[in-house]
Amino acid sequence: MVRDFISLLDLSTDEIVGLLDFADLLKKQRKEGIPHRLLEGKTLAMIFEKPSLRTRLTFQIGMFQLGGDAVLIDTQLGQRESVPDVARNLERWVHGIMARTYKHDDVLAIAQYSSVPVINALTDKLHPCQILADAQAMREHLGKDFSSLKLAFVGDGNNVFHSWAEFAARLPLNLTLVCPPAYGPDPDIVARAQADAKGEIVITHDLESGVKDADAVYTDVWASMGQEEEAKAREKVFKPYQVNARVMAMAKPGALFMHCLPAHRGSEVTNDVMDAPNSIVFDQAENRLHAQKAIMATLMK
Ligand code: CP
Ligand code: NVA
Repeated sequence: MVRDFISLLDLSTDEIVGLLDFADLLKKQRKEGIPHRLLEGKTLAMIFEKPSLRTRLTFQIGMFQLGGDAVLIDTQLGQRESVPDVARNLERWVHGIMARTYKHDDVLAIAQYSSVPVINALTDKLHPCQILADAQAMREHLGKDFSSLKLAFVGDGNNVFHSWAEFAARLPLNLTLVCPPAYGPDPDIVARAQADAKGEIVITHDLESGVKDADAVYTDVWASMGQEEEAKAREKVFKPYQVNARVMAMAKPGALFMHCLPAHRGSEVTNDVMDAPNSIVFDQAENRLHAQKAIMATLMK
């Protein structure tokens, strides 16, 4: 059976832990110069409807390091031909498809109409690859037992938060979202995650109680890709939720600062917080490479 990676809910708890352990191994081997050409002769097609630095580079470099190659398709889906027809073409040439799309349904359609593994590289709804890399970074800094940890996500209830909620449905993390009223997450995603979660998943508008006792404080841009026209209005609403030194002081002493990047310095996060010694944003970015290599080597072998 073809396995896709579209949501963290596609994986069991053991499979997520297995991928994190595999990502750690690939990272260690890479540092020691031990080659791991696990996808020799294989090709990944990379579909990008939205901009990218980290995702594009880490998937491409990851494929090279695994002995394969990657080709870029920079396009708006559904304009020149239907999404199912794109999928039916690609499956004839490549061994895996990675897609960053606006509509989540487009990634689901690519998976439905192609017989090769499909990896979600961000949609308006979810960003699962990001969370796998973030979880690898959290384990490196805080240990492997998520059950004693609290992550406070401050900002928009967006695709990145949705994937964190789905992570918390599989691993026993305590997760709190502190968001402005009217900018909460999809209630169906939260309800489904809460039904499976072993830890707490809390949505609040109150910074002080939401960030209290957090081991890590996470934020993301206030206007995601595709919401550029709302940026001005959002700037006003989100301003009180900026992660600055005052907010970090509400968390546990020494709490980590996390961000998926790109960061808008001076908006959702201040320079001092981004550049503080407990900021692990570039560890998260580095781990995109290792975590996605683990995903590709597992699904495309
Ligand atoms: N975090 C992330 O996905 O970065 P890019 O948008 O640059 O790929
Ligand atoms: N929420 C952001 C994440 C970028 C990696 C966006 O969708 O633009």
